[in-house]
Amino acid sequence: MNSPVGADGTPSVVVAQNLQQTYKIKRGMFAAPDLLRAVGGVSFTVDAGKTLAVVGESGCGKSTLARMIALIEKPTAGSLSLGGRDAVDTPVDARKQLRQSVQMVFQNPYGSLNPRKKIGSILEAPLAINTDLSAAQRSEKGRAMMAKVGLRPEHYERYPHMFSGGQRQRIAIARALMLSPKLLVADEPVSALDVSIQAQVLNLLLDLQEEMGLAYLFISHDLGVVRHIAHDVLVMYLGHAVEQGEKNKIFLQPRHPYTQALLGSTPGLVGAASGLKRIVLKGELPSPLNPPSGCVFSTRCPHVTERCRVERPLMREVDGRQVACHEAERLNSA
Ligand SMILES: Nc1ncnc2c1ncn2[C@@H]1O[C@H](COP(=O)(O)OP(=O)(O)OP(=O)(O)O)[C@@H](O)[C@H]1O
Ligand SMILES: [Mg+2]
Repeated sequence: MNSPVGADGTPSVVVAQNLQQTYKIKRGMFAAPDLLRAVGGVSFTVDAGKTLAVVGESGCGKSTLARMIALIEKPTAGSLSLGGRDAVDTPVDARKQLRQSVQMVFQNPYGSLNPRKKIGSILEAPLAINTDLSAAQRSEKGRAMMAKVGLRPEHYERYPHMFSGGQRQRIAIARALMLSPKLLVADEPVSALDVSIQAQVLNLLLDLQEEMGLAYLFISHDLGVVRHIAHDVLVMYLGHAVEQGEKNKIFLQPRHPYTQALLGSTPGLVGAASGLKRIVLKGELPSPLNPPSGCVFSTRCPHVTERCRVERPLMREVDGRQVACHEAERLNSA
């Protein structure tokens, strides 16, 4: 695969093309399994120093996408390259390096930190496993990373339960950065934190990105958070990307009716975008086991036409962003 390059000429950190994840749901010993298409073909790139935020309601496939990009799950179809290297069928010798180049931060920092280990040993563990550094060198690096994420030296000897939620998330971020990854996949990293703490952790992520040139795949259902941190935005609905592009295009002039509804249902954003009105979506979210034919949003779309019910719209460029909607030209923040 010929990788796109970022502004500085180096390969994009992430290039995903038509990524898919289909789960087999067993119904019984002899019945054929149901197929649940959690991600139905998503394409994007993320360059060094940039943040792509993935937004959409619960169950739309955000975490599934995150797990594929973080190499936790193999896609069932599509291609993925990280730093210009194939990340789906990676030769064994390149796999270790590839795995180090992408790290993940989860929503619940307490669940992801071993309660029996002191912070120092949590931070040093990735170095002990993956490098030849001496104990003294590991300790030095661990302490330097602690300072970088805003923790104090005496915290090195403490256990995770002795920290607040925000501090624990700082520890999880520090651990993720110990092997100098190029990409951080953060799945709802501030959703479990108090609002006042959220801003501190987001600002830390912004500072670290600037300092280390990190690329972020940032998963969130909170559009206020996304507006603060993203460069680009990808909007998902029922496993499909419906609109994606530069943040201001998406926030200020959304073209997809679902993006318009999502923004229009967020307090504080209504009125910010040009002509954005409060929209309450009708109907239930369809089951991913039985998605609508045609456009996935057709059963709830206020602008639906006959064509939408039969023909799935492809992603295409309209007014400087990608949008999967037959009617996008006429839906200028309607
Ligand atoms: N391992 C799995 N096996 C079967 N189905 C799964 C699996 N993981 C996720 N799913 C299904 O895939 C769909 C997408 O789930 P996913 O967790 O990616 O959504 P999400 O956007 O992260 O939701 P949330 O905002 O609630 O975290 C859902 O219908 C979910 O039930
Ligand atoms: Mg999720």
